[in-house]
Amino acid sequence: MAKKKQIEWDLAKAPESRGHVKLKERYDLFIGGKWVKPEGGKYFATIDPSTEKKIADVAEASARDVDKAVKAARKAYDNVWSKMHPKERAKYIFRIARLMQERAREFSVIESWDGGKPIRESRDIDVPLAAAHFFYYAGWADKLDYAFPNRKPTSLGVAGQIIPWNFPLLMAAWKIAPALAAGNTVVLKPAETTPLTALKLAELIQDSGLPDGVVNIITGAGSTGAAIVEHPDIDKIAFTGSTGVGKMIQRSIAGTDKRATLELGGKAANIIFEDATINQAVEGIINGIYFNQGHVCCAGSRLFVQESVYDEVIRKLKHRMRSLIVGDPLDKNTDIGAINSKGQLDTINKYIKIGKKEGAEFYQTECDVPRKGFWCRPTLFLNVSQSHRIAQEEIFGPVLAIQTFRTVDEVIKKANNSPYGLSAGVWTDKGSKIFNMTSQMRAGVIWANTFNKFDPTSPFGGYKESGFGREGGIHGLAAYLNMN
Ligand code: NAI
Ligand code: MG
Repeated sequence: MAKKKQIEWDLAKAPESRGHVKLKERYDLFIGGKWVKPEGGKYFATIDPSTEKKIADVAEASARDVDKAVKAARKAYDNVWSKMHPKERAKYIFRIARLMQERAREFSVIESWDGGKPIRESRDIDVPLAAAHFFYYAGWADKLDYAFPNRKPTSLGVAGQIIPWNFPLLMAAWKIAPALAAGNTVVLKPAETTPLTALKLAELIQDSGLPDGVVNIITGAGSTGAAIVEHPDIDKIAFTGSTGVGKMIQRSIAGTDKRATLELGGKAANIIFEDATINQAVEGIINGIYFNQGHVCCAGSRLFVQESVYDEVIRKLKHRMRSLIVGDPLDKNTDIGAINSKGQLDTINKYIKIGKKEGAEFYQTECDVPRKGFWCRPTLFLNVSQSHRIAQEEIFGPVLAIQTFRTVDEVIKKANNSPYGLSAGVWTDKGSKIFNMTSQMRAGVIWANTFNKFDPTSPFGGYKESGFGREGGIHGLAAYLNMN
């Protein structure tokens, strides 16, 4: 058969409609509550990674635009937001949450269109969770003294926030909601490949009546981000992205009194013990690495399987992988959407080559993928060893590196032998084993018999090169406060 076999399930197409989506052809910068043209007059295109077609042009903010945005945020902080009663601040944050729920459908479609993730994920995870973060932090806004008894918490001032392309709206919510609840104003920059939901959020914020300048949203690439980091009137930097840029940010703010939280990369161990419920564990492996095309900092990208169940796990895993549908992000059947950018696809393919060269055993499903756009079929490597680069470095794609283990001590050592420490997963029937593992593993978040579960009340963040500081929960609130 010349044509590659499609997966075992042949489902009729079920595309989500885009008819209700309102997008402008060109977006300016959202500064001081208004849409402002960029000083340099430059714009760049954001494309649909599943077709490579342009969706809209967005402004490229220069250092002068950044300065304008910081000044607007400072003015709003000094004159309005820091003086407002916390109860009133809470009302605005609640209103943003409500409006986001009302417009959830439009936000989900734009998120999948601009970034390539399956509509099922943006619809069921990204957008509802983003709204949940605003609801959660709205609740804290007038209760800071209860969150931190005897600490007299006060706001920091202006926060500069730089976010990545893997969860664009959700990361904006993670950053903006606690900052506002703690009484700060913000300048936020979305990633250059996925600016549209942040710009729609700016429209929503205008509709919410939030005072001008409390939230400023400016677009651009790395140099715009660097200008935010370097601006002298920023009190705090919140960054999510690559470890490389995280290190640059730390160098750049060294010696200043800027506060920072950095959420960087990961290479999580997902550990399957022989006493785990294997079918559930296989689902957890799939969710751990193929959720959002593997563009997940806490992805379960290193799988450790106990030797006695190795054959069964691999057989079931390959079988389940063959049922995954790769294709149109807006189709409700799609499991794996488009890779976010050509650059990221090149990185993933580079690591697949490295894995083969290192001698690991390569396996990829054979499903069809569209001709145009950026795609990667679900992939795994067997017989990986600890020293392989595919076991040590973050790939940020649908590529799983699999190793085996015999004892608890051995797998703890292997799991901790990583420059990262963001998350991990443990699959076992024994509660005592879970407690033993979680107390010995160096990872900020450890899931037991599940994976990639997020909740606004629960802190998230890393050890080692995965960064520092926590987002979510009252820990995430503390990161935007001075404790006096
Ligand atoms: P990146 O770290 O360059 O991009 C993240 C954000 O930082 C974007 O908004 C970008 O415009 C901004 N940025 C870039 N250079 C900057 C600078 N010098 N100063 C301030 N801001 C700057 O990530 P990139 O290049 O898109 O992805 C490369 C790798 O990073 C991925 O393959 C993945 O391994 C990792 N990554 C991790 C993420 C996470 O959630 N932890 C998110 C995105 C990427
Ligand atoms: Mg795009």
